[in-house]
Amino acid sequence: MDSIMRLIAFLILACCSSLPRGEGIGDLKLNYYSKSCPKAEQIVKQEVVKLYNEHGNTAVSWVRNLFHDCMVESCDASLLLETTTSIVSEQSKDRSFGMRNFKYVTTIKEALERECPATVSCADIIALSAREGVVMLGGPYIPMKTGRRDSKQSHADVIDKFIPNHNDSMALVLSRFKSLGIDAERTVALLGVHSVGRVHCVNLVGRLYPTVDPTIDPEYAKYLLYRCPSPNPDPEAVLYSRNDRETPMIIDNMYYKNLLNHKGLLKVDQQLLSYPATAQFVKLMAADNSHFYDQFGKAMLSMSENNPLTGNEGEVRRDCRFVNAAA
Ligand code: HEM
Ligand SMILES: *[C@@H]1O[C@H](CO)[C@@H](O)[C@H](O)[C@H]1NC(C)=O
Repeated sequence: MDSIMRLIAFLILACCSSLPRGEGIGDLKLNYYSKSCPKAEQIVKQEVVKLYNEHGNTAVSWVRNLFHDCMVESCDASLLLETTTSIVSEQSKDRSFGMRNFKYVTTIKEALERECPATVSCADIIALSAREGVVMLGGPYIPMKTGRRDSKQSHADVIDKFIPNHNDSMALVLSRFKSLGIDAERTVALLGVHSVGRVHCVNLVGRLYPTVDPTIDPEYAKYLLYRCPSPNPDPEAVLYSRNDRETPMIIDNMYYKNLLNHKGLLKVDQQLLSYPATAQFVKLMAADNSHFYDQFGKAMLSMSENNPLTGNEGEVRRDCRFVNAAA
């Protein structure tokens, strides 16, 4: 009897003292839609797989979307808003150059709206599709939480304060990620995702003209000059190089092996090796793919939980491209 009373007292304490900081209103949690839309996560997965089978590069876009949405103020799907009379789309800014496949976010959202209207936020679609995208690209399963709400505004005017440029210094890159609680090692891990996808010549010519950056391997430089034959590429032309020519559609530590061989594509990529605070982690991850996955997964989680809107903040958009019409 006594022990039962103690157990009850313990349960009350455990429950109620932890409520304000625990998984109360306002926090993200695993499987947030388990009651409101039990099939939500399964539907996102099905759609991501289907889209991957039709257009493999969609998986790459889901991963980049998480970075560009979450890094800028909040994981709030502000990235998905299109330009209207009152909104300037983040997609139209320089830092979003090359982003693609936004129309297929609409495909995923429509599948969710058919199952449970106005329930699953676009911000959670960004997180869940990034999780499934990483898996499709051979990377680790990352247990993303859900419960984010969508912003009613774009942060287009402040993007440059959050997303580094392709040629920024490593000190600046590290400070940007540090403000999300991501340390140097995990920043190195995050950039490992540049093991998939492509870079357009406009982002490469700075390393090739007028003279070739001496940190580029000479044979690799020849290849890049062949891919990008002009110092002034037409930004509309689809001139690009793959991030990782060995395993271009797999998130793996080949990226770090390439850096060790001076075959980094962007200036920020190659700088990971020339900057003392990051070089050691490049070597570590080149040697140990599971360590890379572990750090990458943790960094992706931190990024995905950056300052979300929760509870009754923001809204759940019905169409990810537009703020809901006033009722
Ligand atoms: C210092 C940080 C970063 C910088 C400066 C940066 C910059 C860039 C640039 C310039 C491109 C090429 C765009 C183009 O020419 O088409 C690119 C591609 C890409 N980035 Fe990053 N990035 C950074 C971090 C990240 C992070 C943290 C992620 C995700 C976790 C990410 C995911 C991607 C992906 C998946 C692509 C390939 C996109 C495609 O092929 O469509 N990047 N990045
Ligand atoms: C970085 O690249 C941009 C073009 O994307 C260029 O305008 C700028 O001058 C470059 N900055 C440095 C420090 O090289």
